[in-house]
Amino acid sequence: MASFRRIRTILLTFALILAMQMSFSTSIGVNFGRNGDNLPTPQNVVSLYNKCGINLLRLFEPNPDILEALKGSNLQVSLGVRNGDMQSLALTKEAATNGAEATYVTQAMKNIKDAINSIGLTNTKVTTSFYLSGLATSYPPSAGAFTNDVVNVMKDVTSYLLQTGAPLMVNVYPYYSYASNPKDIKLEYATFQTTNPVVDGDLSYSNLFDAMVDSVYAALEKIGAGNVSLIIGETGWPTAGNEPYTSKENAETYNKNLIQHVQSGKGTPRKPNQTFNVFIFAMFNEDEKPGGIEQNWGLFYPNMSPVYPLLSC
Ligand SMILES: *[C@@H]1O[C@H](CO)[C@@H](O)[C@H](O)[C@H]1NC(C)=O
Ligand SMILES: *[C@@H]1O[C@H](CO)[C@@H](O)[C@H](O)[C@H]1NC(C)=O
Repeated sequence: MASFRRIRTILLTFALILAMQMSFSTSIGVNFGRNGDNLPTPQNVVSLYNKCGINLLRLFEPNPDILEALKGSNLQVSLGVRNGDMQSLALTKEAATNGAEATYVTQAMKNIKDAINSIGLTNTKVTTSFYLSGLATSYPPSAGAFTNDVVNVMKDVTSYLLQTGAPLMVNVYPYYSYASNPKDIKLEYATFQTTNPVVDGDLSYSNLFDAMVDSVYAALEKIGAGNVSLIIGETGWPTAGNEPYTSKENAETYNKNLIQHVQSGKGTPRKPNQTFNVFIFAMFNEDEKPGGIEQNWGLFYPNMSPVYPLLSC
């Protein structure tokens, strides 16, 4: 009997995402985090995305200079809204009746969708992101990723997503599961290299990423939202700050195999052939984040040279 770490979920953020005209496919995007005092100019950042063949860019909050630089580029952009703005966005139209988080999130999504429709961007999808972290215990993916405390929020959010056809954005970090329990979770399993798959009922898992994604699909099915599709809003591997779990080698292996896996279009054991876009976290190392691993998720140094060879630029 295979043993799984319980994939517990925490709603760390409920950032709103505008996934602009983002088709459901197997594109690889990269998050452009901006917590650095030495990052390249917006124009140079856009050039680097283009040069490296990255056609999706995710921005955590609107920034006029970057949006200007993106004009006329072929990049597709996913744009976040600051969490702190969420409540006021939700309250612009109707007062939240019971103060529940779900009310804010769903109402905020509705208000943003209305605003976007009103300026003619009707193809734009509005969604929210859900942070999936790997913590504690031993349930299989089929048990589902939504803990009791988030079920009601997710029911509300997914009923909106089903109406609009927008995907749910999920952040999936096998790194954290592995680094917090390297005894039970093998590096090979976390980095798509295992030769010893983990079995859950009829399904066989050859990597932790699929197991985590399937725990979300299973949870969605349990609340009657099995038709909600996913975008992976964040995943990645830090290169330093928590050795030996962090290293350039591990980060390169994880991201290289991730890209190959996603682009194969195979989907996951629970949803074979179901494709989704994935955003790697992150474009640059960011020196204004807390010290340690937080500063070391970048594919590139701020001077735009690669931290490790991943993309052909
Ligand atoms: C899910 O989508 C499929 C295909 O579009 C449809 O046949 C099915 O009824 C949907 N299921 C639910 C629960 O809405
Ligand atoms: C997935 O695609 C493959 C290749 O096209 C096909 O043989 C297989 O039946 C598909 N599986 C499902 C569940 O659709």
